[in-house]
Parts: sequence; structure tokens; C-alpha cells
Amino acid sequence: MIVVIDREGVEHHLEASEGSSVMEVIRDAGLPVEAICGGQCVCTTCHVYVDDKWKDKLAPMQDMEQVLVEDSGSYQDNSRLSCQIDYHESMNGLKVTLAPEY
Ligand code: FES
Repeated sequence: MIVVIDREGVEHHLEASEGSSVMEVIRDAGLPVEAICGGQCVCTTCHVYVDDKWKDKLAPMQDMEQVLVEDSGSYQDNSRLSCQIDYHESMNGLKVTLAPEY
């Protein structure tokens, strides 16, 4: 399960299965994440902010993700591209907030 705060501040608890990316979980729940590139780490439309409690527990960013997210115009030090976060059970309760629309 992941917790997603949408752009209106509403909290959603979404079932997540191992092997899915966080972007896929958010998109498949019908929340407004465009994910134009389909998870190829190209578009930045899956940008989220990771709750402080979680940000150091995730696998570190690869170089391409880092460059893209820093160029997104709404970068924070807890920014991630949700397509680059693969969900697994140890992440149960992961909390993210959708970044402003690109
Ligand atoms: S879906 Fe395009 S960068 Fe994540």
C-alpha cells in the first residue's frame, strides 16, 4: 500500500503490488499523473515529492533521473520520478505527494 497526496491535498491509500513502479500504481488508480513517456525516464510528468520519513529508504537516483528532476522547474530535495521507484513490500506505507503539473 502506498499513500498519495493529490494536488488538492486529498490523501489516497492505494494497493500496490511488487514489481510495479510507483508511477504505475498512481496512474492505474486514476490519479492525474500523465506519465507521457510510459516510465522511460524521459518526460518528468510522474514527478512526486517523497515524504521525509521515506526519502532515505529508497534506492538512490540514477544520473538521468537526477538531471531530469532537477530541470523540472519544481525540484525539491525530496523530488523523485515515480516511474523510477519500483515498489516492494518493504515500502508498505510509502507516502508521496504529486508535484505540480509540468
Ligand atoms: S513517466 Fe516519464 S519520466 Fe516517469
